[in-house]
Amino acid sequence: MRNLLKVGLRRLVSSTPGDRAPARAMGDRNAVVVAVAAQKGGVGKTTSAVSLAAALARFHGKRVLLVDLDPQGHVATALQSTMPATGPSLARVLQDEAESEVLDAVVPTGIDGLDATAYDAGLAATEDLLGTRIGKEFVLRDKLRVTRTHYDVIVIDCPPNQGNLAINGLVAADQVLIPCDPSPLALKGVAALAQTVSTIAHRLNPQIDVLGVLLTRVDGRNTTLNEAIVSEIEEAFGPALLPVRIGINASLAKAQHAGTDIFAFDPGCRAAQQYRELADHVVGQLAT
Ligand SMILES: Nc1ncnc2c1ncn2[C@@H]1O[C@H](COP(=O)(O)OP(=O)(O)OP(=O)(O)O)[C@@H](O)[C@H]1O
Ligand SMILES: [Mg+2]
Repeated sequence: MRNLLKVGLRRLVSSTPGDRAPARAMGDRNAVVVAVAAQKGGVGKTTSAVSLAAALARFHGKRVLLVDLDPQGHVATALQSTMPATGPSLARVLQDEAESEVLDAVVPTGIDGLDATAYDAGLAATEDLLGTRIGKEFVLRDKLRVTRTHYDVIVIDCPPNQGNLAINGLVAADQVLIPCDPSPLALKGVAALAQTVSTIAHRLNPQIDVLGVLLTRVDGRNTTLNEAIVSEIEEAFGPALLPVRIGINASLAKAQHAGTDIFAFDPGCRAAQQYRELADHVVGQLAT
């Protein structure tokens, strides 16, 4: 059969993804993409994404890319003392029909082995613009095709909703890490997200898996309410609940305020130890 697109109309088509040599050279790695996602706000997504990414780079010698998919730009705030204030635009990459890559929007951080995308005010508009694109759920995944060959792990900090950007994060992901604080609302949010991940697995990304539910902001005091919610969460998520838990620790907020990761800010604190244990667990899990 004739192929008129290739033979007759080729000159009119500026970009056909997949059949041209990538503008960026391929690397020799093949990153595992971990989306850190939760529907509820303020449960520790950004804190966990930054701390996990930093721990993987610092203690496991991984080449790590932290992608800030949240228009709030909290990754850049959390690492502001180690990152340039501005950088190339991730929004422009995502809105571009041509073969630009996330790699084109990456800046180095002061942490060895860790790159990140800079704060990008344009991401707020991207949320809506993505809705007008053909194959809107696959945009980020396509834009990581070459990028992922330059890293061992890509950690995506997703916004606290199930909008276009968050869905793009999940469709690009191999694994989803779901932070959950011990509150009834967070529990509901995890159930809703699990449903979304399951739908994405059926329709859009069959290789997606849940890395686990990470209990965050756990109050060490044994109040009855705290215990009741934790056991409800244990019952609800069973083996999906990660063995590592992150306690409430003021150093995490202070580190964010200082614009650096917990391992630089207060390496001896309990939260630093817990996030290091999380990274150890994740490395073990990804190796199997
Ligand atoms: N384990 C913890 N102990 C104490 N404070 C914490 C802990 N984890 C996160 N925080 C603080 O709670 C606030 C919310 O955390 P974070 O920004 O990580 O949540 P988020 O889920 O990314 O929020 P959003 O939905 O707005 O993106 C921040 O001020 C952070 O410093
Ligand atoms: Mg956040």
